[in-house]
Amino acid sequence: MAVSPQKTMLLIFAALISPFIFKLSSGNIQGYVSSFYKKDSTVSFGTCAKFSWESIPPSDHLIWHDCYTKRECARLSVPLNYTDPQGEKAVIAMTRIPSRFPANTPWYRGPILVNPGGPGGSGVDFVVDMGEELSTIVGPQFDILGFDPRGVGRSVPRVSFFETAAERALWGPISLHVLDTSRGDVAREWARSKVVNELARERQLDVLRHMNTDHTARDMLRITEAHGRERLQYWGFSYGTVLGATFAAMFPDEIERMIIDGVVDVEDYYKTLWTHNLLDTDKTMQIFFDGCAAAGPDDCAFYAPTPEDISRNLTSLYNAIREKPVPVRTKHSYGLIDYNRLRMKVFNSLYQPFASFPGLARGLADLAAGNGRPLFEMTEKTPFQCNCDEGLPGIDVTSEAQAAILCNDGDDIPESLEDFQKYFKHLTEKSSWGELWSTIRAECIGWPKVPKSHYQGPFVGNTSYPILLIGNTADPVTPLRAAKKTSEGYPGSVVLTQDSPGHSSLAAPSLCTQKYVRAYFTDGRLPDKDTVCGVIGSLFSQSADKTAAHQMFLGHKLTSDEHEILAAITSLSMSSRLPVSHPL
Ligand SMILES: *[C@@H]1O[C@H](CO)[C@@H](O)[C@H](O)[C@H]1NC(C)=O
Ligand SMILES: *[C@@H]1O[C@H](CO)[C@@H](O)[C@H](O)[C@H]1NC(C)=O
Ligand SMILES: *[C@@H]1O[C@H](CO)[C@@H](O)[C@H](O)[C@H]1NC(C)=O
Repeated sequence: MAVSPQKTMLLIFAALISPFIFKLSSGNIQGYVSSFYKKDSTVSFGTCAKFSWESIPPSDHLIWHDCYTKRECARLSVPLNYTDPQGEKAVIAMTRIPSRFPANTPWYRGPILVNPGGPGGSGVDFVVDMGEELSTIVGPQFDILGFDPRGVGRSVPRVSFFETAAERALWGPISLHVLDTSRGDVAREWARSKVVNELARERQLDVLRHMNTDHTARDMLRITEAHGRERLQYWGFSYGTVLGATFAAMFPDEIERMIIDGVVDVEDYYKTLWTHNLLDTDKTMQIFFDGCAAAGPDDCAFYAPTPEDISRNLTSLYNAIREKPVPVRTKHSYGLIDYNRLRMKVFNSLYQPFASFPGLARGLADLAAGNGRPLFEMTEKTPFQCNCDEGLPGIDVTSEAQAAILCNDGDDIPESLEDFQKYFKHLTEKSSWGELWSTIRAECIGWPKVPKSHYQGPFVGNTSYPILLIGNTADPVTPLRAAKKTSEGYPGSVVLTQDSPGHSSLAAPSLCTQKYVRAYFTDGRLPDKDTVCGVIGSLFSQSADKTAAHQMFLGHKLTSDEHEILAAITSLSMSSRLPVSHPL
């Protein structure tokens, strides 16, 4: 998970919560609604353009400047190469929502660093877009601090091996996309990666070689020390769990608190295999079919009497669209609903089912009836404009940062087409979603050779404080099994299971989970082993008072803390602001 063009500030869903009845407004919940950069119907540029990072001089100390809205920003100098600490510097861009308590009071508990995933996701965007809710969940004693990992966004140097935005639009990695064998896509993808990575080597090798998770872990320690604190407090999601587990293995004595949430199989990641992510993807999909059948035609527009019917209907739709893409004209742009776009839309919806399933069902029903526009509008991009980020240097979160981090971190992969074809076959035999997931490893075909002296395991450690891991029972890209496996390397760590579909705990409204998050950060309390947290609300029933879960809350008065935490996690899980353009 991580950030993207969808830095839309558009909050399309309002959750109304009273202390007694949890009630979701029955308006239009449209998943990853619309639009990159679209706000109401005017074009805006998310967090861009409002604030100049260059106005902050890089420093070894923390000097905070007001920025964005109710945020503070700073730039910290760190060694570009930690083996050569007196050499060149990198500059890490950070944004925080400060604690409600001044640093010189006994209530102040220091920063919690957050990472939204990616790799290549921007922690600055994460805190600008979602910091309030994160801050509410952990409590007012802490700063919530997001940073752009080295290579990413506003940190310097930035991975950017295209020279213009137009070049990137034409040739840049498009994170995930479908490789359709009937069109020869596998071989084309191989050739595309080869030429783009040749460009990377030619243009940016000196920068690229310093971009890896090992060095970002060291940067996190520097950020912590710059706050005058010895030990890290951290909450990392998705790829952020790779970063957390790496930190914990490298610096087991420097952990005050660490939550890793939506946990990646770290060994699989460092082997550049990406073979263990899709274990529960179909389980998440099945929850769509089951939920839709159970919800009935009023609440699920793609309803059919049984889950099997719905599944069959979706397969028919895939086949029909593959044969005959649907042309679409909207107010802002035009394009096609083709097989790639349909599969990507369904796949992305699995990351955040509470926000996206009802809208997905409507979009699919419309598409089946011949109208592709609603589904198209859910993923509509402002048509590419040449003057976009060229005029605004330093603010673009480039797509190639992802490739730089994951290809540097992982083992080199074989370069031949035959090897990639074999890999593609292997992945698609294991899961139908292999047809898009295989594009991640493809980014590393022909990646420049850099010395691999960074930490690559083992992922074990007797940590100075036990780690809390969170895994969902049906996470489409980070299966619960990976959380359990990772936990084994860190004695005393506990896996909290959230019984929900979606990617990471932020994907579903669980008061139970987020109360454990708060208790862990504030009191150091870990859940008992085998704790399972449920969620409040149901996937399709937007007319809230129907569901049993809501009934449970009738007559149970929430404390004001619970009320706040529930409102925050509901807002997050229902929001279109959660980033999805990165795989993890
Ligand atoms: C980092 O610095 C050391 C010491 O100067 C050097 O040997 C090493 O090659 C550098 N690492 C990279 C990735 O350039
Ligand atoms: C979905 O399946 C049902 C039952 O098999 C069928 O009657 C219906 O026409 C299908 N709908 C679509 C849109 O394919
Ligand atoms: C952690 O501590 C245990 C018990 O002292 C020891 O057996 C184990 O080797 C340690 N693990 C690591 C990674 O240091």
